[in-house]
Amino acid sequence: MLSQECYKKIDRELAKYPADQRQSAVMASLAHAQVELGWLSPDTMQEVADYIGMPAIAVQEVATFYNMYNIKPVGQHKITVCTNLPCALSGGERAAKRIKDALGIGFRDTTADGKFTLMEGECMGACGDAPVMLVNNHQMCSFMSDEKIDALLEELNK
Ligand code: FES
Repeated sequence: MLSQECYKKIDRELAKYPADQRQSAVMASLAHAQVELGWLSPDTMQEVADYIGMPAIAVQEVATFYNMYNIKPVGQHKITVCTNLPCALSGGERAAKRIKDALGIGFRDTTADGKFTLMEGECMGACGDAPVMLVNNHQMCSFMSDEKIDALLEELNK
């Protein structure tokens, strides 16, 4: 169940579009719901669909298409490593292995303590900064050497 505060944020998104185009606010609405609840359960997607006035299946289509939406529960920190070709050729695979080894998990896994989830991501538009990773969908980390990865994990583990 979304909070009134979250509904206020969704209302602000809806206000950006004509009344007969409420579905245009679905992506932002899902993002607010995810920030509040951590992930988008089927019930949450249904709630957003009901509020916006669009079919639940259409909301699910959006949520499952974009990989920044969490359609399963994730850990406290979600680390998404870009493994697309430019990053892969510039250390992305090595960076991913470093994190896998450090956390003892693979892609789409969460550590037993619920602290970290590791995801494989698509190009983040920063290929020149490879290897690139994103923390919790907001913090872009560039030129991720082994040393920088170790420092990042230590910082997030505090
Ligand atoms: S391929 Fe990794 S940011 Fe573009």
